[in-house]
Amino acid sequence: MTQRTIIAAVSPEDKELAKVRAEWELLGRADPLWAVVSAPGHRGNRWNVQEFFATGVERIGKIAARLEEQDFAFRGDTALDFGCGVGRLTQALADRYSSVVGVDISSAMVHWADIHNAKGSRVTYVVNTRPDLSQFPSGSFALVFSDIALQHVPPRLALGYIREFFRIVRSDGRVVFQLPSRPSSRLTGWIPQRVLDPLFNGLRRLLRWVRPQDYPPWETHWMSKRRVQATIAAGGGKLLATIQEEGITGSLESQLYLACRVSERPPGAGE
Ligand SMILES: C[S@@+](CC[C@H](N)C(=O)[O-])C[C@H]1O[C@@H](n2cnc3c(N)ncnc32)[C@H](O)[C@@H]1O
Repeated sequence: MTQRTIIAAVSPEDKELAKVRAEWELLGRADPLWAVVSAPGHRGNRWNVQEFFATGVERIGKIAARLEEQDFAFRGDTALDFGCGVGRLTQALADRYSSVVGVDISSAMVHWADIHNAKGSRVTYVVNTRPDLSQFPSGSFALVFSDIALQHVPPRLALGYIREFFRIVRSDGRVVFQLPSRPSSRLTGWIPQRVLDPLFNGLRRLLRWVRPQDYPPWETHWMSKRRVQATIAAGGGKLLATIQEEGITGSLESQLYLACRVSERPPGAGE
């Protein structure tokens, strides 16, 4: 019998995703709350759990207020929280939505999310290690939401997830997600993202060796508003508003995107 060697094809996306997953599994095991909100003085499992979850209620309240300015009420029946971590925002969303699913790439994060779930069967947490959201049927959610998660996913993978958001949202639903759009410094504005992004993350890796206390062990990416808008359109979505936010992601300008599916039905038309 002849022996054959089967070489499985591993795409660059698979490698990138495996790296992100390994990074967040480690963080989820070592210091999960600090990895989500890396406020000074809380490193080394020093977060008070109640105070930590209060930051989630505060953040969702702030986002809700900004969305109200766009005539969007942040409440309804089903919501998905992409990149839920330990469920900080999922729990707060469950005060406004009757059923919320939190999904994360890290089983360690989901483990802690389950432990801290104070909303019973209103909230479910699941792990997704795929580059898509195929475990969720099309048109499943009234809201697809994501905050400070896509920024840790390499751009081409993040764009794939954004396209998926518009498949799994209902035709009368809304997609709300945050993503940094550019470095705050105007000096770097002329450098293309495909050059600047690896430079920025490479420099951070280097600085981490020198001052680990100041440079946390995760990658942070951004995407131009133009590129995000093109991706929303390619996914069958329509951008309704962008809201610029300060102080979300260190030295990067951050945007909240509010969007819906192109095939939106008029209110009251039924599914
Ligand atoms: C900074 S934490 C934010 C958690 C949560 N959104 C919050 O604000 O409390 C980023 C989360 O994104 C998750 N994440 C990173 N890449 C992901 C991916 N490809 N799919 C799902 N979750 C991912 C990480 O595991 C981590 O839990």
